[in-house]
Amino acid sequence: MLPRFPDGFLFGCSTASYQIEGAVHEDGRGPSIWDTFSHTPGKTLDGDTGDVACDHFHRYPADIDLLGDLGVGAYRFSIAWPRVQPTGVGEPNKAGLDFYDRLVDALLEKGLVPLPTLFHWDLPQALEDQGGWLSRDTSSRLADYAGHVAERLGDRVRRWITLNEPVVHMAQGYAYGTHAPGHTLMLEALPVAHHQLLGHGLAVQALRAAGATEVMITNNCTPVRAADESPAAAIYDAFHNRLFNDPVLLGTYPDFLAEALAPVVLPGDLDIIRTPLDALGINYYNPTLIGAPTGESPLPFEMLPIEGVPTTAFGWPVVPEGLTELLTGLRDTYGEALPPIYITENGCSTAPDVDDQFRIDYLDSHLRAVHDAITAGVDVRGYFVWSLLDNFEWAEGYSQRFGLVHVDFDSQARTPRASYRWLQEELRSGR
Ligand code: NOJ
Repeated sequence: MLPRFPDGFLFGCSTASYQIEGAVHEDGRGPSIWDTFSHTPGKTLDGDTGDVACDHFHRYPADIDLLGDLGVGAYRFSIAWPRVQPTGVGEPNKAGLDFYDRLVDALLEKGLVPLPTLFHWDLPQALEDQGGWLSRDTSSRLADYAGHVAERLGDRVRRWITLNEPVVHMAQGYAYGTHAPGHTLMLEALPVAHHQLLGHGLAVQALRAAGATEVMITNNCTPVRAADESPAAAIYDAFHNRLFNDPVLLGTYPDFLAEALAPVVLPGDLDIIRTPLDALGINYYNPTLIGAPTGESPLPFEMLPIEGVPTTAFGWPVVPEGLTELLTGLRDTYGEALPPIYITENGCSTAPDVDDQFRIDYLDSHLRAVHDAITAGVDVRGYFVWSLLDNFEWAEGYSQRFGLVHVDFDSQARTPRASYRWLQEELRSGR
């Protein structure tokens, strides 16, 4: 049995719109960069797309029943911007917002706290056609969109997440080209960080103006381990972690990145980005081992394999103590500037089997790691499993299964895995 978590600790599950909803042409939804990217030959494994995904758009009542039966207190989902503003600008599409209205009501009926993310990577294609996050204007578009959503849902939704993993969106989407929109700009992708962060700050202000009481950003963070004496690990830490944590918590960029970003940072931007947050969302999957660059890469670091630990179906190393290290490290780095933390994603991909002891062990050990951090004095308020359902794992299509619930993508049948039953038992016995 897991140790007891503090009273009020929020357990939940996370998903994202393009990964589960399907129904990409329904109720006036416009195309997103992920529709374009996944329909471009060679971009996703086996040419998989999110056209149908888990068909959650139609099956959400059954999925909410699964959440209710599991016994979690909250559900983190994302809102598809192109359902709300099909071209990313202008008056909201009422039918698109109606879906989230129904979803929120269904969650509240079950006593579940709704925790929507505004942007989980499915940018309206029309905005990408005008430069996407390389364009400063996209920041203001995000704030307008945030205002429309909050106006419609803000009477029932109090807690919000602005962005999901801006570092991954910048790196995979704009630097390496492995995610939508598929640019391969390498270091030239840096302005995407600033524009997302500026959009975050403006969105926080828009959400607060609409009465939001708890606003956060979700950053993907990794404890960085140095393989050698070179500065590579510190450089990687600056790119991956500090580029997104420093400006929102301290109002600064790490020195050498501040220099590189200077051409796009205007006076006053960092004050907007530092608009106080009520919490920080952290997605944790694994630590990263970094060494000096070798070979042809234009990047000032190289990622090395972590040996001697189990790996997930994705090949990601399983290092639960890395989560404790990350959380205590954040506390040590940011001190008073660090707001309460929610683990907004943690989980693993496994073989399709329903008997997923691997996931049970993964979740058990990572929850203990969170508990250790709390014992060490870090203010962690919640933990969300990625994910409720097997879903569209971006460039990997349907090949990586992260669900507490198995999905048969032919029949859309949902089958709770052993890990779902395990968590249900844990929650029933009053974690
Ligand atoms: C983080 C992302 O937010 C989510 O969309 C993705 O599926 C998981 N990591 C697993 O890769």
